[in-house]
Amino acid sequence: MFKVNDNYLKLPGSYLFSTIGRKVREYKEANPDKDVISLGIGDVTQPLAPAIIDSLHKAVDEMAVKETFRGYAPDLGYEFLRNAIVKNDFEARGAKVTADEIFVSDGAKSDSGNIQEIFSADNKIAVCDPVYPVYVDTNAMAGRTGVYNKDTELWSDVIYMPCKAENGFAPEFPSEVPDIIYLCFPNNPTGATITKDALQKWVDYANEHKAVIIYDAAYEAYISEDNVAHTIYECEGARTCAIELRSFSKNAGFTGTRLGYTVVPKDLKDADGTALNALWARRHGTKFNGAPYIIQRAGEAVYSEEGKRQTREQIAYYMNNAKIIKEGLASAGYSVSGGVNAPYIWLATPNGMTSWEFFDHLLENANVVGTPGSGFGPSGEGYFRLTAFGTYENTVEALERIKRL
Ligand code: MLT
Repeated sequence: MFKVNDNYLKLPGSYLFSTIGRKVREYKEANPDKDVISLGIGDVTQPLAPAIIDSLHKAVDEMAVKETFRGYAPDLGYEFLRNAIVKNDFEARGAKVTADEIFVSDGAKSDSGNIQEIFSADNKIAVCDPVYPVYVDTNAMAGRTGVYNKDTELWSDVIYMPCKAENGFAPEFPSEVPDIIYLCFPNNPTGATITKDALQKWVDYANEHKAVIIYDAAYEAYISEDNVAHTIYECEGARTCAIELRSFSKNAGFTGTRLGYTVVPKDLKDADGTALNALWARRHGTKFNGAPYIIQRAGEAVYSEEGKRQTREQIAYYMNNAKIIKEGLASAGYSVSGGVNAPYIWLATPNGMTSWEFFDHLLENANVVGTPGSGFGPSGEGYFRLTAFGTYENTVEALERIKRL
């Protein structure tokens, strides 16, 4: 008789954004006349840039012609895209990454969930707390996280690195040395980031302890300050200790079309000298048939001169929303951070409300949806995340409503 993978049964509740989606649906059903504004999930609202749309049309037309039709994509991705990535995302930043170290995928969410598969089941992970839930959930599915404690909301075998106001929302080196360290900068959910010098220290730490860093750089396009690394490979020694996850969702609006990539340097080897690049290529070849040709052409267009200019304008649009949210909340007396190098604003909930109490309060009294900080981990309790990915009009309206509370 078949049995399910009982690691799945240990997972608490439902996925954070599914829970929020259900609550909002229920509220809307009960209150059909209310105009609910979502600043919850980090989903973009601006249409794809014209350069990307042109490229999509062209690629679709190619698929209608025998000579230019494409079937299965190469499983690591088309060279035209991987070469554009190398040139623009790495060479332009003085970082050494080659096209055969790039693995094109359907997005950073899948990659951030799947990458743990190539590590030993008894490897110990360290995560920031609060954290993007996918990192922990997928390690729990793989049986790597031990026992879940409902009261503390912590897993017994996970090393948590609390990121709170007291430490500037930046993780500190844990007392127990991890095997796998998840870092995300600019950070989801706090919107905080660390300097390139601080990131260098993590790279040195990982090399010294033979740990691997899984570096989620999905929000790098939002960096506005100097001395913040856009890629971990700007740091010396990162090629021997870091995997980087990248996304086209937030920098170019591909949340619906899906595209991302992962960098696994050939210099990255485990304690026995096994190269992770070959292992990930093996996994990719077995489990993935490549991102669609038309979407990879759209990705290539992001790196065209027009594409770069147009996507920069979109990022400026969202960062203007971030400024409106941050300044609006601060003027209403909220304690706020983030929103400078990231499209997320992190606020302390008022009047000692829990994160979920504030979620209900905001939904019911302002008809605004945000994300409860505690959904990202226990250190997020008492915090709340608002996203800058709404439209300008909705962002202004949401802030007016919040100020009137
Ligand atoms: C978020 O809201 O945290 C993100 O949009 C989720 C994601 O990128 O998967």
